[in-house]
Amino acid sequence: MKKSQPSCFVFILVLTLCLFLSRGALSLNLDDTPTSEDFISCLQSNSNNGTSISQLVYTPLNSSFRSIWEARVNNLRFIKPSTPRPSVIVTPVDESQIQTVLFCTKKHGYEIKIRSGGHDYEGLSSTAAVPFVILDLVNMKSIDVDVGNRTAWVQGGALLGELYYSISQKTHTLYFPAGLCPTVGVGGYVSGGGYGNLIRKYGTAADNVLDARFMDVNGNILDRKSMGEDLFWALRGGGASSFGIVLAWKLQLVPVPEIVTVFRVNITLEENATDILYKYQYVAPRINPDLLLRVQIFSENIGNTSKKSVRMWFEGLYLGKIDALLPLLDENFPELKVRREICEEMTMVQSSLVLGDQGFTSSTPIEVLVNQSAIVRREWNYKHKSEYVRTPIPKSGLRRIWRKMFENDRSEILIMYPFGGKMEEYSDTATPYPHRAGVLYQLLHGVNFADQTSDTTPVSLRRVDWLRSFEKFIEPYVSKNPREAYLNFNDLDLGVGSDSYEEASVWGERYWKRDNFKKLIRIKVEVDPENFFRHLQSIPVF
Ligand SMILES: Cc1cc2nc3c(=O)[nH]c(=O)nc-3n(C[C@H](O)[C@H](O)[C@H](O)COP(=O)(O)OP(=O)(O)OC[C@H]3O[C@@H](n4cnc5c(N)ncnc54)[C@H](O)[C@@H]3O)c2cc1C
Ligand SMILES: *[C@@H]1O[C@H](CO)[C@@H](O)[C@H](O)[C@H]1NC(C)=O
Ligand SMILES: *[C@@H]1O[C@H](CO)[C@@H](O)[C@H](O)[C@H]1NC(C)=O
Ligand SMILES: *[C@@H]1O[C@H](CO)[C@@H](O)[C@H](O)[C@H]1NC(C)=O
Ligand SMILES: *[C@@H]1O[C@H](CO)[C@@H](O)[C@H](O)[C@H]1NC(C)=O
Ligand SMILES: *[C@@H]1O[C@H](CO)[C@@H](O)[C@H](O)[C@H]1NC(C)=O
Ligand SMILES: *[C@@H]1O[C@H](CO)[C@@H](O)[C@H](O)[C@H]1NC(C)=O
Ligand SMILES: *[C@@H]1O[C@H](CO)[C@@H](O)[C@H](O)[C@H]1NC(C)=O
Repeated sequence: MKKSQPSCFVFILVLTLCLFLSRGALSLNLDDTPTSEDFISCLQSNSNNGTSISQLVYTPLNSSFRSIWEARVNNLRFIKPSTPRPSVIVTPVDESQIQTVLFCTKKHGYEIKIRSGGHDYEGLSSTAAVPFVILDLVNMKSIDVDVGNRTAWVQGGALLGELYYSISQKTHTLYFPAGLCPTVGVGGYVSGGGYGNLIRKYGTAADNVLDARFMDVNGNILDRKSMGEDLFWALRGGGASSFGIVLAWKLQLVPVPEIVTVFRVNITLEENATDILYKYQYVAPRINPDLLLRVQIFSENIGNTSKKSVRMWFEGLYLGKIDALLPLLDENFPELKVRREICEEMTMVQSSLVLGDQGFTSSTPIEVLVNQSAIVRREWNYKHKSEYVRTPIPKSGLRRIWRKMFENDRSEILIMYPFGGKMEEYSDTATPYPHRAGVLYQLLHGVNFADQTSDTTPVSLRRVDWLRSFEKFIEPYVSKNPREAYLNFNDLDLGVGSDSYEEASVWGERYWKRDNFKKLIRIKVEVDPENFFRHLQSIPVF
């Protein structure tokens, strides 16, 4: 018994010491690293209803934290066990709550990650290497379609599928020129430019923005008039997350026929695909802009053998009926051998279902566009890169590309997306998106890790190596000075240095070209001089 007293004393001493040390650490913490408790009380005390905002706050201690974090991450690469998690996620339901989140994020020294659809190719809306808060716009998704004025106000967290669905509930003869995947968010998509099946007819999504509601770093809510034309220009292709928060876009809706036509054809090398693709490069960017013809290209084994071939999957959308499409193809591209039987007439919204890569058909109810659990994120573990092609690749070059593809293990994909048409009418500086006149097609190349547990297995790493070697290999065939890349297919391999213009131009001029990049930097300095809105490839402040 006597013996236990000193040990008890020692125990209490140690405990006191521990407490003292941990309090020391805690107060150090308060100086250096923010704590989520303080952040949450800041939200409560700066909100007109503290109870209601705390129901919209998630920290890693909340049981639903993980599902909220992952719900809008579209690539398994960014939700690995090793991925840095947000300190806090807030899902505001109105603009005043967004002001509060912005205020407290600044006050407590967090970085802010603004998240709309969460499809960022480098996970920049969902993770960061420093303590950060996700402003998740998942509850900011109202859509107000005005058929008479051919416009729509769309909040920053709405998804493309929700937009298409809302339009289709009012009319089948108006649409918005946007992308294929229904789960992409309007926040990132529109502010990076945005291409889709109507690009040859109506330009990019950003070209069809009429106005915006925008929150600057001081919490002011601005519209086009009060923000001025420079900032309004920057938001339409410069990537909004360098400047502030897009609360809503006012979109121009465009006329489409009530009936459009969709067709698909597969052609392999044995069926002269090289010749046909060679011709495609001349036809697809120049044909009537009512026709958009995309090609997905992948390697495959022939039958049961180890001999390899290439399959090209041509997918067309024609803004009209079959009777008008067939003569157009007969005259311009008979080699595709498109017959009436493989053409299908449908509404524009149905074409979004069919061409949306989700395995839907024209008889799938269009309600799936607004039903997140109906959308299977099948191949959602990948790395992609983008290029623009301005000179047709010769047949010998195409054959070299196939041989290069055969070095990989069939996990690769190439996608050609034709431009021309309306895209020829804009100057490179009309918006920050500079990939305009003279672009024949956009070329996406990527590898998939869907059959792997992560992007870091030996097999996955080999695929990434192959992708990087393909990137080097393809250089002679793609645009030069600068070699262009698409902001919405952002790629940190392009570089992240931003201490000087020289460093930043390595990646910045690829996304925007020199004149636009310099203008974006000027606007950034005016709008956010302290560089609060930042990420690894945000517009720098020197
Ligand atoms: C499966 C898939 C299909 C795709 N298809 C196409 C396509 O057909 N055409 C095309 O052009 N692109 C396409 N993309 C690329 C897509 O446009 C970009 O990934 C785009 O950035 C996604 O926007 P998001 O809102 O879903 O992403 P998020 O990850 O939420 O956001 C992307 C970036 O925008 C910022 N941001 C988001 N919302 C706001 C806001 N309200 N205010 C300020 N900043 C904001 C984020 O902070 C982040 O930096 C596709 C991507 C995927 C994964
Ligand atoms: C605050 O929000 C809560 C939960 O949404 C609600 O029950 C309560 O009535 C609100 N209080 C006020 C004063 O509006
Ligand atoms: C998450 O936990 C915090 C702190 O305990 C709490 O205030 C908040 O209401 C919780 N969020 C939700 C959505 O329940
Ligand atoms: C266009 O919008 C205005 C303002 O919202 C409205 O008053 C007007 O009726 C609309 N015009 C048409 C043709 O619907
Ligand atoms: C084309 O080939 C792909 C891959 O094998 C297949 O999924 C698709 O259904 C084919 N399309 C047509 C129209 O045959
Ligand atoms: C491929 O081209 C050759 C030579 O022009 C031709 O003889 C052959 O019929 C073509 N094959 C197909 C499937 O079109
Ligand atoms: C393909 O190969 C497998 C295994 O070698 C064999 O069992 C199968 O019968 C082959 N199929 C065809 C269509 O040749
Ligand atoms: C959404 O899709 C899921 C999966 O297909 C289905 O079970 C569910 O009934 C759908 N919900 C609605 C409201 O249609």
